[in-house]
Amino acid sequence: MACPHMNPNYGQAARNRYLEGKHMTFLGIDLGTSGIRLLLVDADGRPLAATERHYDVHRPHPGWSEQNPADWIAALDAAVEDLRRACPQFSALRGIGVSGQMHGATLLDKAGDVLRPCILWNDTRSHAQAVRLDSIDQVRALSGNIVFSGFTAPKLEWLREHEPGIHARIAKVLLPAGYLNLYLTGEHVADMSDSSGTSWLDVGRRQWSDTLLAAGHMRRDQMPDLVEGSAEAGRLRPDLLRRWGLTGPVSVAGGAGDNAAAACGIGALEEGQGFVSLGTSGVLLAARDGYRPAPETALHTFCHAVPGRWYQMGVMLSATDSLNWLARITDKKPAALTAPLGEALQAPSRVRFLPYLSGERTPHNDAEIRGSFTGLGAATSRDDLTRAVLEGVAFGLRDSFEALQATGARVDQLSAIGGGTASRYWLRLIATVLGIPLTLPAGGEFGACLGAARLAMIAATGGRPESIMIAPGFSETIEPEASFKAAFDASYRDYRASYPAIRAIQ
Ligand code: XUL
Repeated sequence: MACPHMNPNYGQAARNRYLEGKHMTFLGIDLGTSGIRLLLVDADGRPLAATERHYDVHRPHPGWSEQNPADWIAALDAAVEDLRRACPQFSALRGIGVSGQMHGATLLDKAGDVLRPCILWNDTRSHAQAVRLDSIDQVRALSGNIVFSGFTAPKLEWLREHEPGIHARIAKVLLPAGYLNLYLTGEHVADMSDSSGTSWLDVGRRQWSDTLLAAGHMRRDQMPDLVEGSAEAGRLRPDLLRRWGLTGPVSVAGGAGDNAAAACGIGALEEGQGFVSLGTSGVLLAARDGYRPAPETALHTFCHAVPGRWYQMGVMLSATDSLNWLARITDKKPAALTAPLGEALQAPSRVRFLPYLSGERTPHNDAEIRGSFTGLGAATSRDDLTRAVLEGVAFGLRDSFEALQATGARVDQLSAIGGGTASRYWLRLIATVLGIPLTLPAGGEFGACLGAARLAMIAATGGRPESIMIAPGFSETIEPEASFKAAFDASYRDYRASYPAIRAIQ
């Protein structure tokens, strides 16, 4: 992405201001599963420059998913160098915010060294431990959530049973964004939104719970200090200031889990605002005006990244992952699978796809459930399979939508974000299946990175969240297609009826 001193859309005065370095800039960092994204914004929160670096997920055993924290740091350092080279306004940096993939367990010993690779959010090894923790009295009531196997507490229980030597040496547990904040500031901190996915936080009171920590055999001194996402968590370390050519001081915000950060990026703070995210996982998120836990629905109820706010979301584990899987086994790119469908919505497919390739959270809470194709015939084509996959994901999102509505959440319209939004057909389908208009952010989508940069602005300047976390302009609204509504409603009912025998949600 071009920087303003090279960008013809910026007026000469603005270009001069930046070239003179008189303007403050802020950095949003999104520590994702496949890579790290950096976005530099100006004092008005307008994107100036962005860059991205990738790293690997390691899968030493089926169902395991790990990353080396050192790879995150190397990617961050390289990405910062890219930004510095591309955009001299980096030198006007005043604040940094980090958004992170949630739930991962980064374990440090007394000396601050990483004890083993980080176990990620999509690692399913601790399924049995999650079920056990979830059945303990008070755990759902205090954490506000089911203990899903991707959450942090069951990972630590697995370690206690399978790697007791490592477990005994744990001095601190940090979430991935917390580990980056430690690198940036030297402080052990965790923000409320990210900590909500640990099963150690009393989500209603926004504090660590001794009862939850005891249930997971953890101690308070192993926890980082809690901080609101928009508060200052620390200052950039002097050696990084020097290395990155900054004069400082640079505030580092508490930061956020990636979904809370994305909500900040699209301006979803209030009841009625939300988004649908079509990434590896699919998320339907609604901002709430209070704390309204509903674990029986398998929805997540988490602290928002700004004080005194919460949000609820349904999470499906294989959204674009389902399409990527079909692309892989048919030796095509995902875009080559969706292109032949065109843009005009077609009637529901006769083929049914259940998108549970890696288990499912909302609505099933079942790590072992698996996907299926049904209704195949001799004439079934590859396009039929593609449509069935897109529909299966849309119906999975509708499950989350129904659960959200059952808790009284108001959802007037949703922003659509994530890689899957590249398919116009999928967007029309989802708008129709949910019966809700989908808006596309104008000027490209910066999601969690922009939200993190906005948290940095608040932490560094003391600005009000309500005036900084505003909805971006929308380039387009995708309306539901009324003529297909009844057919897709009937198809959704059929989809629900085709659930395999699954454990009832407690
Ligand atoms: C949320 C979740 C995912 C990860 C992906 O609960 O597990 O959205 O945060 O990055």
